[in-house]
Amino acid sequence: MFLKRARLARSMPKWKEEWKVWGNVFDRYTEENLVKLSKQGHITELVSPLSIGKESNIFTVASPHGTIVAKIYRVQNCNFKHMYDYIIADPRYGNIKPGKRQIILSWITREFRNIMLARQGGVTVPKPIALEGNVIMMELIDGQQLKDDAPDNPKAFLDTLLKEVATLWKAGLVHGDLSAFNVLNFQQKPVLIDFSQGSSVEAFNAQELLERDLTNVREYFRKLGVPLDVVRASKRIRQGYKPQRGRDTP
Ligand SMILES: Nc1ncnc2c1ncn2[C@@H]1O[C@H](COP(=O)(O)OP(=O)(O)OP(=O)(O)O)[C@@H](O)[C@H]1O
Ligand SMILES: [Mg+2]
Repeated sequence: MFLKRARLARSMPKWKEEWKVWGNVFDRYTEENLVKLSKQGHITELVSPLSIGKESNIFTVASPHGTIVAKIYRVQNCNFKHMYDYIIADPRYGNIKPGKRQIILSWITREFRNIMLARQGGVTVPKPIALEGNVIMMELIDGQQLKDDAPDNPKAFLDTLLKEVATLWKAGLVHGDLSAFNVLNFQQKPVLIDFSQGSSVEAFNAQELLERDLTNVREYFRKLGVPLDVVRASKRIRQGYKPQRGRDTP
């Protein structure tokens, strides 16, 4: 057991000093996935922690693609009952078996699949790079969360954000956790992140999720003096968003 672990440690990507501390928090399953990603050529060096969430940690990683991001789920901390209630409503995962591991891994796979679908549909999201078990690798966006970096022109930013939400809907998805935490301000344009709660527009609660997302967006922009009619915006998004001449905000 000890020998096996030592062998695994030798095949790990190169560690910076500060990572030795972080390395201790990785379980064996995570280490194995990081080794696989390193062998696939996606990780050359683990760089630094970017954010620590309830269920996952985000790290920057050096790779042949440049500096990228690894979102690493802490499987032991995942609230799989909560995940099950959400994922079962998504018709793509309606037949999922109620086992803890299966639910958590489907949740992570769904997040990666959502980012891919969004990207293919033309939504501005980080480029998905690789998925291995509990580790999602994607492009690093050099921007701040909207909550920490208010846009210079809130009206223009909101218009673009609503277009992104409409494009996402056209791609068959609703974000489900949209807020100033999960939108990055990249050069005064929104980039959508954190698709863990992203669901199919075919889900029975898709409209409810969309309107909850739009309500969060409204609350943020209300403080910046820009109003949003959630019901109207929802209707227009669901009908296929078409910008009106001279009036971009639905
Ligand atoms: N691709 C990325 N580029 C730049 N920063 C990112 C990227 N992905 C995540 N981040 C940063 O890390 C934070 C946390 O990421 P994310 O929202 O995906 O996880 P989380 O909210 O902790 O997820 P969960 O609540 O599902 O565990 C983001 O708010 C953002 O600041
Ligand atoms: Mg988040």
